Amino acid sequence: MRQIADGIIYVGVNDHELDLFEGQYIVPNGMAYNSYVIVDEKIAVMDGVDGNFGDEWIANVQEALDGRTPDYLIVQHMEPDHSASITVFMDKYPEAVIVGSVGAFNMMQNYFGTKFEGRNMVVKEGATLSLGSKELTFIAAPNVHWPEVIFTYDAADKVLFSADAFGKFGALDVEEDWDCEARRYYFGIVGKFGAPVQKVLAKAAKLDIKTICPLHGPILTENLEHYIGQYQTWSAYEVETPGVVIAYSSVYGHTKAAVELLAQKLEEKGCPRVVVTDLARDDQAEAVEDAFRHGHLVLATTTYCGGVFPAMDQFIHHLLDHAFQNRKVAFMENGSWMPAATKGMRALMDKCANITYAQNNVTVKGSLNDDSRAQIDALAEEFATLD
Ligand code: FEO
Repeated sequence: MRQIADGIIYVGVNDHELDLFEGQYIVPNGMAYNSYVIVDEKIAVMDGVDGNFGDEWIANVQEALDGRTPDYLIVQHMEPDHSASITVFMDKYPEAVIVGSVGAFNMMQNYFGTKFEGRNMVVKEGATLSLGSKELTFIAAPNVHWPEVIFTYDAADKVLFSADAFGKFGALDVEEDWDCEARRYYFGIVGKFGAPVQKVLAKAAKLDIKTICPLHGPILTENLEHYIGQYQTWSAYEVETPGVVIAYSSVYGHTKAAVELLAQKLEEKGCPRVVVTDLARDDQAEAVEDAFRHGHLVLATTTYCGGVFPAMDQFIHHLLDHAFQNRKVAFMENGSWMPAATKGMRALMDKCANITYAQNNVTVKGSLNDDSRAQIDALAEEFATLD
């Protein structure tokens, strides 16, 4: 059992069995479902875990409590990766009261057929719950990630329980960089909700925070300004790292050759950072993360059925789903007899807010020739300076 602060103990679990988190994200290093107990005169348990780990979680809670029983289960978020084990807990501890927002109890009705009437406590923004020496304050955090979400602040220990915010992919028994998998997680899971994240960051800025306890990923105890700064950048849709991302799909290798030439020319012309991703073969969640991280994006694909090749079509829809905005975009199309991919990509990208289009796009007809090489040179000249 890991002690987080005086009286706060980690009781979460690691999942190395999961194939796809939320049904779509690969998690090569697994996933952690974090839960915490706060021991005082009264005892609160913070959130549950995925349904496959209910027994392990209850065993962790029992070990942490050493014979005592919990008084409260605080449900900050009802997505099943945290809530699916709630009924196990409530059956195990019939005296416990469940605490959540009104939205959380509506979701409990939908998932479990009950709002645990007679054993529930509905809390709103600013509500408090005294455990004895520690008093918990609840902070509404709607749409970070679902509408019912609350954060919880323990002023005595200066601990913020932040629900999905500041979480990452990866189990806690694997060492890995926070930024990379937290960024992929953020833009995949929360990216659409920049404005709600900004609102809750403004509330958090008024708190004295020493420790952040998210529902996924490591407990954050040092250098908090880095993590909060990253969330500020990401939720404001600002450029984190200047550079050009070239996201492409290629059928017979000709578009790939054009992309490689563009990448080479960008580097020759002094572009400090060029990232190339094959949308048909690489992880598209990583490609989405790269697109949001950098300021310039080149979309390169073949014409397919008079429109956009499926891998590119899917990628642009991922960008739209996650509110991609504030970036500079160029197009490269390939078409053996009637190139039409740029028109299709542009129609989709027009749905994004605040996109600036490059002056120079590229059309390849089959394979590279002098004309398309010149177009690539012009686009490289335009994007290499990252203006
Ligand atoms: Fe970790 Fe939105 O659930």
